[in-house]
Amino acid sequence: MKTTINTSSLSQLDTECLVVTVVDNAVEPKNPDKPAKPKPQLLTEDKTVLNAAADLMASGEVTGKMLETALLHKPQRLKAKRLLLIGGGKAKTFSSAELRKLAGAAVRALKAKGVKSFAIVAPALGQGGMTETVKAIVEGALVGDFEPNYYQSDREDKKVDKLVIVAKGDEKALQAAMKQGRIIGEAQNFTRDLVNEPGNRMTPSILAERAQKMCDEVGLQCEVFGGDKIRELKMGAFWSVAQGSEEDPKMIIMRHEPAGAPEKPVLGLVGKGITFDSGGISIKPADGMEKMKYDMAGGAAMIGAMRGIAQLKPNLRVIGIVCASENMPSGKAQKPGDVQIAMSGKSIEIINTDAEGRLVLADGLHYAKQLGATHLIDAATLTGACVVALGMVNAGVFANDDAFWESFGRALQASGEKMWRLPVDDEYRDLIKSDIADIKNTGGRWGGAVTAAMFLKEFVGDTPWMHLDIAGVAWMEDNKPWIAKGPSGTAVRSLVEFARQFADGSGSTSSAGTSEKHSISGTHAAQKRANSGAGL
Ligand code: BES
Ligand code: MN
Ligand code: ZN
Repeated sequence: MKTTINTSSLSQLDTECLVVTVVDNAVEPKNPDKPAKPKPQLLTEDKTVLNAAADLMASGEVTGKMLETALLHKPQRLKAKRLLLIGGGKAKTFSSAELRKLAGAAVRALKAKGVKSFAIVAPALGQGGMTETVKAIVEGALVGDFEPNYYQSDREDKKVDKLVIVAKGDEKALQAAMKQGRIIGEAQNFTRDLVNEPGNRMTPSILAERAQKMCDEVGLQCEVFGGDKIRELKMGAFWSVAQGSEEDPKMIIMRHEPAGAPEKPVLGLVGKGITFDSGGISIKPADGMEKMKYDMAGGAAMIGAMRGIAQLKPNLRVIGIVCASENMPSGKAQKPGDVQIAMSGKSIEIINTDAEGRLVLADGLHYAKQLGATHLIDAATLTGACVVALGMVNAGVFANDDAFWESFGRALQASGEKMWRLPVDDEYRDLIKSDIADIKNTGGRWGGAVTAAMFLKEFVGDTPWMHLDIAGVAWMEDNKPWIAKGPSGTAVRSLVEFARQFADGSGSTSSAGTSEKHSISGTHAAQKRANSGAGL
């Protein structure tokens, strides 16, 4: 999809379709039982557009409800062939998160009608200027344009050819914002490409090749270890998962080390890259097992995030690590009851071989620290329990450092992704005590997402760390107006935004030893703000 900025007058714009946002500007009712009548308002001041839409607006068919659409052909006195009005929800809450969805929904609605070239009028946002608007539109449009039906022989190229963004403002700044949006949207789609591939076409070796190729293209250093090196480094937890498979595991190490970046902080991004999770000897039921091809979504998110970071070039050292392996049953596979020694020296009793993600991450996190990471974030499709707790709306976030989590809240607000903090209190640690070893790899029936996080916490020590459990959000079960079903690419945008803010110092935490520019007090405020976005 080609994107361009246009600053000319709307009536003269020659396009297949002009897309304009409508919001509901009704005053909140005093009595909630008697909802106020919607007061739809077009987000443009252009007289020709307002006139062309006047009858439709007066008809009562348009309310401004989120993603509601109304299409008008041959709008009066406009050069555009069609006028699409699309709802942005309540005027008061309309933000970049809604706008991203709206742009994605416009792309999906129009391409379904065969319209491959159109223009969207950039609406002013309550907060944030036109640059934020343009960036959100590009991100949302790119995400909306992704289709997962790779292996259908009649897959025709349905992608949108051209999107014109009509915006007023400093042209240079708008162009820069468009480029940023493109980098971030493409990074997310790059991740979705990886996650979409089935297990036979996305083995650890293939994932490593794809990461290597991406690193070569964007100028990142990349190193890949195979099984021999993983054993040599005594990564006993990682290897225990890989040992049952015919496929060689890979540890992928990507580095963004811009010249002149300070020695510290060093952000370590560690991803779970299980290219297929059968459960191993503790094998999963057949029903739904095919879904476990997406068990590398955390790793793929880190690869996509590194791509975006390489292109946006924040002045910060970042190390991306992906622990890629299959989890398979075989005569060589690990067994329940086995004891493994992780790279850190901790001994682990294996209760359930299906709790494999935490095992590969244990060594990944430890190794990231050895490589100098001062701050750690991991992403993983780690537990079904997290899906039970939060459904498919919010990812779970676990953090051992309040300031680190609060700064991540700012990145969530910028990205529009929804994540909810869950606890890692010491009291939960008892649940992973083992009779024979230091810890065991499952914590029993209750609080499964928390005990998985407690397991990871054993390997990060005092390093500020966040764990993102994306099991419920990495794969969309249904089509949505703004995004196709299939891989979502969740976490990429937030990680890229976080790296940018962290480099600026505005995302720095007390532990990083630098000043906090936009400090807010209390975890609650961060939680509220992080969750004020409209998701994905
Ligand atoms: N990959 C799964 C978690 C998962 C579940 C991801 C649903 C996406 C959707 C993970 O490796 C797993 O099997 N976890 C087990 C842990 C249990 C054995 C303690 C689970 O959640 O059931
Ligand atoms: Mn598993
Ligand atoms: Zn898994």
